Amino acid sequence: MELKIAVLAGDGIGPEISAVGVDVMSAVCEKFGHKVSYEYAICGAHAIDEVGDPFPEDTFKKCMAADAVLFSAVGDPKFDNNPSAKVRPEQGLLAMRKKLGLFANIRPVQTFDCLVHKSPLKDELVKGADFICIRELTGGMYFGEKYQDDEKAYDTNAYTRPEIERILKVAYDYARKRNKHVTVVDKANVLASSRLWRKVAQEMAPNYPDVTTDFMYVDNAAMRMIQEPKFFDVMVTENTFGDILTDEGSCITGSMGLLPSASTGEHTPVFEPIHGSWPQAKGLNIANPLAQVLSVAMLFEYFDLKKEGELIRKAVDASLDQNVRTPEIQIAGGAKYGTKEVGAWLVDWIKKA
Ligand code: IPM
Ligand code: MN
Repeated sequence: MELKIAVLAGDGIGPEISAVGVDVMSAVCEKFGHKVSYEYAICGAHAIDEVGDPFPEDTFKKCMAADAVLFSAVGDPKFDNNPSAKVRPEQGLLAMRKKLGLFANIRPVQTFDCLVHKSPLKDELVKGADFICIRELTGGMYFGEKYQDDEKAYDTNAYTRPEIERILKVAYDYARKRNKHVTVVDKANVLASSRLWRKVAQEMAPNYPDVTTDFMYVDNAAMRMIQEPKFFDVMVTENTFGDILTDEGSCITGSMGLLPSASTGEHTPVFEPIHGSWPQAKGLNIANPLAQVLSVAMLFEYFDLKKEGELIRKAVDASLDQNVRTPEIQIAGGAKYGTKEVGAWLVDWIKKA
């Protein structure tokens, strides 16, 4: 297969983990005889500094022309601490989602046995937890009508039937490949938008008789996720609820630095870690590249290249088993590995596999 990849490394630790992702991708492509080419493009704080736009037109064009985007992270404290900044790196991320029509954000919440002890929850609750959150990504309050003056402000949580139907379909398709259980998370006891979600889901559920559908209010879902994370298989929810619940999800696994995600929809799909740009660690060669590397696995799997994805997952498992780990997850007394060294080890393992 021929793959054209747009690489958007972004800010902070982005470039360091991006380089590892690209090396792993190249190693896997070489092994399986795929032809891969990369187009590098700017985004985030770094693009604001260079051209005044966090998602410039040239970057958009490169994304549109690619088969997939390998994205790393955006964000810089100089914007966080400046409430009057006219343009922010995060706007680049939202522009990318909207312009590429990335309405489905797939965030797996997956545990690694050797890291379960890092979770704030008890081992027995976390061990074996494995679900995915399908977050609607281009609608809701993020993109609805907004207003702000000094006395009043609002964000509108608008959803249309087609927007709800298409994201629910993604959830059902995933459920069919997994444990056939969809949990629709909403706030239908209070919000009109949620009532439409629930109505549409109730209408669609009979079309998937092999899948169990249940409904949960978002407050209850937040609680259930920490009381019984193993309850969930596929969770589907609107943009804002999904934003909040996936942070909760990533932290119950004890390994935020290990979780990848995929955003798919109308145009080029994007694969990225769920973590941020960690500016404090920039250039220190300490960032964990595994979430980025696992995003590459998701990229291959998206193109139905299952063996390629599996090889990456095995390489990651092997690195963890052999304590080839970045500092934040290294065992006491374990050898020192930086971002680059973990990357080099993975590439080597893949070549020899
Ligand atoms: C995420 C992030 C973004 C979001 C921010 C950076 C705009 O938190 O991808 O979850 O809120 O969607
Ligand atoms: Mn978030």
